[in-house]
Amino acid sequence: MLPSPRLVWDLPVRLFHWLLAASVVGAFVTNKLGVAWFSWHAWFGYAVIVLVSFRLVWGVVGTRHARFASFVRGPAAILAYLRGGAPATPGHNPLGALMVLALLAGLLTLAALGLFGNDDIINTGPLAGYVGKETSLLLTSYHRRLFYGIAAAVAVHVLAVLAHRVVKGENLVLPMITGRKPVADADTIPSSRPWLALTLVLVLAGALVLGADPCAGGRRRCLRLIPLLRPNKKGGRPAGRPLIVFRPG
Ligand code: HEM
Ligand code: HEM
Repeated sequence: MLPSPRLVWDLPVRLFHWLLAASVVGAFVTNKLGVAWFSWHAWFGYAVIVLVSFRLVWGVVGTRHARFASFVRGPAAILAYLRGGAPATPGHNPLGALMVLALLAGLLTLAALGLFGNDDIINTGPLAGYVGKETSLLLTSYHRRLFYGIAAAVAVHVLAVLAHRVVKGENLVLPMITGRKPVADADTIPSSRPWLALTLVLVLAGALVLGADPCAGGRRRCLRLIPLLRPNKKGGRPAGRPLIVFRPG
């Protein structure tokens, strides 16, 4: 008899997953809707940046099965999994872990490239002004190509989840919603640590907002970081100005 379902995926991981999927779809759809929707495209992209940054930190300080150390394995474990000789894992399996890393790295790179992009009509990413027009267009083409790569990876990801259902009879989607899987007592997590997660998200989002323009208001000394959370139609800082601006007295 299977053990009764117990908490494996904490609430932050589950919220992260479905918000990430919604943001990626949102960014795609708002791009397809046309230039007037660009600021929505940018905001969905910023959401991806905050979410993935959160997940990277959560992979170190989060609950047991969310930690990279608990699911990222070397080639030997991946081969053993492929040969069917690996013990079942309560969290991600060794092969799935590769896809998790690829999606996180790919999405962060994709959104970062978008920051420097421009549509050659009126819209630009907030950091496009830091590079010349040609470079911006080149980075936009990488943004586009990487998106197609990620769309393919997401398709493989969803097919793999479906294959688990069909081939192994294992439903992975429900645990990503409820957090619960039929595992032994020793494999359950005691809590989702939601307050730690919320604090982290607020700090990360706040860091991006503060980085937006700390020099505003004529402060005497300020350090301009990345003007991230300001969708900017004019291309941000004009090329040629220094990245770090000090305004002594
Ligand atoms: C743009 C769409 C999507 C993206 C970017 C995405 C990305 C990810 C990521 C990064 C993880 C790792 C979660 C973590 O440890 O934090 C994951 C896991 C998972 N995703 Fe998605 N996902 C997407 C769509 C979907 C859809 C549509 C489904 C439903 C069929 C799904 C089902 C799952 C499941 C079941 C897991 C857990 C797999 C396991 O148990 O090892 N995902 N996804
Ligand atoms: C990770 C989330 C993102 C996804 C999934 C995404 C997806 C896309 C897609 C599919 C395109 C159309 C490429 C084509 O021409 O076929 C595009 C274009 C573009 N994206 Fe993103 N993007 C994301 C984040 C961002 C961010 C954060 C910014 C900057 C604020 C940005 C700025 C741009 C620009 C300037 C274009 C060119 C507009 C055009 O030619 O249509 N993107 N993006």
